[in-house]
Parts: sequence; C-alpha cells; structure tokens
Amino acid sequence: MLRTLAGETVSPPPIWLMRQAGRYLPEYRATRAKAKTFLDLCFNPDLAVEVTLQPIRRYGFDASILFSDILVVPYALGQRVWFVEGEGPKLDPVTQAADLGRLDRSRVLASLQPVFETLRRLRRELPTETTLIGFAGAPWTVASYMVEGASGSDFARLKDFAYRDPDGFGALIDLVVAATVEYLSAQVEAGAEVLQLFDSWAGVLSEPQFRRWVIAPTRAIVDQLKQRCPGVPLIGFPRGAGMMYADYVRETGVTAVSLDTTVPMSLAGALQERCPVQGNLDPRALVVGGRALREEAQAILAALKGGPFVFNLGHGIVPETPPEHVAELIKIVRDRNA
Ligand code: CP3
Repeated sequence: MLRTLAGETVSPPPIWLMRQAGRYLPEYRATRAKAKTFLDLCFNPDLAVEVTLQPIRRYGFDASILFSDILVVPYALGQRVWFVEGEGPKLDPVTQAADLGRLDRSRVLASLQPVFETLRRLRRELPTETTLIGFAGAPWTVASYMVEGASGSDFARLKDFAYRDPDGFGALIDLVVAATVEYLSAQVEAGAEVLQLFDSWAGVLSEPQFRRWVIAPTRAIVDQLKQRCPGVPLIGFPRGAGMMYADYVRETGVTAVSLDTTVPMSLAGALQERCPVQGNLDPRALVVGGRALREEAQAILAALKGGPFVFNLGHGIVPETPPEHVAELIKIVRDRNA
C-alpha cells in the first residue's frame, strides 16, 4: 500500500475496502451488541480495536482503516450527534452563522482521545505489513450533516445557507478545516500511516461551488498536513465529482485519489498519469457475486493494474454483502496478478 501510494506499480495491487468493518460481518454485529450506542462503540478502544481487526483477521487485507465515523468531529466540536437504528445519523442542526457560537474548537483533541488510544493499540496489534489508515470527513460533507441534521437528499438547507451567506457558511467550513487538521495530525502522531478524506457529497455542487467548498478547503487541509506530517500520503475521495475529478487532483495536491463507481476507466487512466488511483468496484457487484463480480473486478484490474493502483470499492460495503464474496474478490485480485 505504501509503495503504491509512493507511485510504484505493485503486482498484485494492494486491496482494502471502504467500510470493511461493519454489519455484513457476524463478528461485527456481536461486538456492536456490546456497546449501547454506535458512538459508544467508536469511543471504546477495546471494542473499536476489535472491530477494526476483524476484517484483517478474516481476509488479510493490505490496509486496516481505523474504526470510527466522520461525525465524531461535529460531536467533538460540541454538536449533539446520535444514530437512530435504520435511519442513520441525527444532529442538532447548525443553520445560520449565529449557531456557530455553540461550537468550540478548543475541545476537539481532548474529546477525541479515545480514538487516538485506539490507533496506538492498533499500531501495536496489526501485522507490520498491514498499513494503518486514519481518516476524516472532508469539510463540505461534514458540514452537510452539521447543517442538514441528517443524511441529506436534496441538501436544500445546506445549499441555501452557502448561497445566502457565503461568509457565514465559510466560517463553518473554516472551523471544520481547523478541527480536521488538528484531528488528522493527532491521528498520525498516534500511528496512522496514511490518511483518507471522505467527501461523500462532493457530487452535488455547481462548478463554482465545488471549487469553493470542495477544492479550496481540501487544499487548505493538504497544505497544512504537508507542513505538520511531511511524507504522510493523503487519499482524497470526492465521490460523484465527475468532470471535476481532474481539477480536484491537480488543485488540491492530494497524494492519491479514490474513484467512485461511475468514473469510467478512460478518466481513471488519465488520472493515474498524475497520481495513484484507488477504486472503484460497484458495491452491488460484491453483493451479487459470481460472474458479475468477476467481470466488473477484472475490467478494473485490466485498466489500472499497469500503474499505481489500490483496489477498492467505489463506495462503502453494504450490510447485505455475503462475507464469502469478499473472500472471492480478494482471490480474483491476487490471483490474476500473481
Ligand atoms: O471503513 C471502515 O470500516 C471504517 C469505519 C467507517 C464508518 N463510517 C463506520 C460506520 C468510516 C470510514 C465511515 C465514514 C462515513 N461515515 C462516511 C463517509 C463514507 C461514506 O459512506 O460515504 C459517512 C458519510 C458517514 C456518516 C454515517 N455513519 C452514516 C450516513 C451512517 C449511517 C448509514 C449506515 O450504514 O447505517 C453512519 C453509521 C456507521 N458508520 C456505521 C458504520 C459501521 C453503521 C452503524 C452501525 O453499525 O450501527
């Protein structure tokens, strides 16, 4: 994984999967049942280490991603965050500049101490050849939850805030940028070797808004992390960025880019000329398995294995994925290139 992110072509390519720890695994569901709430699971180092390691033990992935959530940052800023079974995250929304007074950047590192403890223990417990990935949400996506108070559908509240009061919305984005830089630097100090920024809702913006709320804040994070954690690769995942992927790579300075399922191999290949690429199997092909899985995975491998490439999904694993299909996928990726 580290060699690939340094620009080498590695055969077979490294593989890990977004949301590789989660409800599709029976052992995750068993550990999840020991915590009262989802955030309790994220903030209990014993349990968080256990669920992070489960997919590594079962499959031997090349990288292990810290078990946590992007919404621990709003929580650490003092916003109320909770998860409703079957509905997803809920937050007490921040809808105008005046609400920013409820947030306090100075408490971020102290409230996230359990996450750093989880990373320190993981670094000790993981096999040395398994790369430890830390992560955060990108400011636009984190702000989307902070403003909408839940997973958005049309993002009306969020977009209206950004259009109506760009300075006020910019202050929220700046606050998230600052908190994210502190959070990610502390993750590196605690043992994270690679960082990923999840911008799950990057794909809903006009070009000027994309430049302002996706590219500029990501670039600010990349610039500051290059100062504070030189040499630590950062993977950007601007899901749904479409035609904007190339500008995102060029203008943010990310080390590598994670591609969503809709990115065609022609664009993926062009991006790979500039930086390592990661992706982008459709999580539904992994649910279905068999021929669909083989054909989709092999098309991606054929197109991208000739350059620096990390095999992954185009978005997170879904809970109904049969665990044996994940084993099958690893076999496809490793056999073909062995
Ligand atoms: O990849 C991993 O294995 C690491 C853990 C991880 C989780 N969330 C655990 C989780 C990571 C990297 C995330 C990132 C995350 N969280 C994103 C960005 C990636 C993406 O999926 O777009 C987003 C948008 C969130 C916010 C979030 N957290 C939502 C929308 C939900 C509810 C959806 C769902 O699947 O229930 C969560 C909850 C969540 N985060 C779960 C897990 C395993 C499921 C909760 C449970 O087990 O009860």
